[in-house]
Formats: sequence, C-alpha cells, structure tokens
Amino acid sequence: MRAMKQSDLSLVIDIENRAFTHPWPKQAFDELISHYARVLELDGKLIGYILCHVIMDEAVVLNFAIDPTLHGAGHGDYLFAESLKELRALGSRIFYLDVRESNAPAIGLYQKYGFSKIGIRKDYYSEPTENAIVMALIRE
Ligand SMILES: CC(C)(COP(=O)(O)OP(=O)(O)OC[C@H]1O[C@@H](n2cnc3c(N)ncnc32)[C@H](O)[C@@H]1OP(=O)(O)O)[C@@H](O)C(=O)NCCC(=O)NCCS
Repeated sequence: MRAMKQSDLSLVIDIENRAFTHPWPKQAFDELISHYARVLELDGKLIGYILCHVIMDEAVVLNFAIDPTLHGAGHGDYLFAESLKELRALGSRIFYLDVRESNAPAIGLYQKYGFSKIGIRKDYYSEPTENAIVMALIRE
C-alpha cells in the first residue's frame, strides 16, 4: 500500500468505472487526493484504492475498490485493514462510511472490522436507486 499520486488517476478511474454502476467523475478524485488516498499494488500493478476524508479524530471512508478481476482474494481485506491501522496511528478514532444495502461483500468486510449499522439514507444511491446503510466504528 502506498500514497495515491496524481499520475495514478487514470488506472484508478479505470478500476472505478469497472467496479461501480455509478462511478465518480475524475474531478472527485482530484479533490480528495490531498486528503487520505492510498493505492494497493500487486507485482507492480495498481489493483485497488481507498479514499477517506479526515476531520479532527473522524475519518469517513468515501471510496474503496479492488479491481473486479481480483475480487475474493483477500486484497480488499488487506487494503482496508492497513488503512484503518494507518488512520488510527494518524489520530482517527471514529470511522464512518455509507454502503449500498445490497453490497454484501463490502458489508461483510466492514462488519469483520467491527463496523456496525447506525442508520439508513433512503434512496441515497442512483443507477439503480437504493438505500445506503450508514456504518460506524468507534475506537477509544
Ligand atoms: C468490497 C471489496 C473492496 C472487497 O474486496 P475483495 O478483495 O473482493 O475482498 P476480500 O477477498 O479481501 O474479502 C474480505 C472480506 O470481505 C467479505 N467478503 C468478500 N467477498 C464477499 C462475498 N462475496 N460475500 C460476503 N462477504 C464477502 C468477507 O468478510 C471477507 O472476509 P473473509 O474472506 O474472511 O470472509 C470489493 O468487492 C470491491 O471492490 N467491490 C466493488 C466496489 C465496492 O463495492 N466498494 C465498496 C463501496 S462501499
């Protein structure tokens, strides 16, 4: 895992477009790259990324994906766990994220790391319209 650079964005956006039905535009990555943005490389190839917004002791996971051709092989687990560890070391104590209600793999991963459901945002997502589950983790 390493910090995301501006020059990574074309590969990151390629994964984004294949991983999500409603992908982020490039501008959204440009704005967040200066916050907490990490990529995961395997044998020198960029295979995933995570972006978080950090304010005081709170971190919000805003985007997170692994190349769809490599799902289910432990890469998401590694990137998520390493990011949580690093964010904690940087002072984050409360973590939030939103996830599509039907996204069982992501929800399973978040629960594995202690996140629990704290609410629902009705019809939050589009293409297709779907509720978001809001999840949080508080670490003293
Ligand atoms: C969510 C995502 C990052 C997981 O990455 P991955 O590399 O496929 O996941 P891993 O192989 O590391 O699995 C880690 C954990 O996730 C959960 N998980 C993964 N696939 C799962 C599945 N099909 N069903 C249920 N849980 C699953 C499990 O808890 C698993 O831990 P375990 O192997 O000990 O059971 C990946 O599926 C992805 O990029 N999805 C598309 C983008 C996305 O939905 N991002 C999250 C937006 S909120």
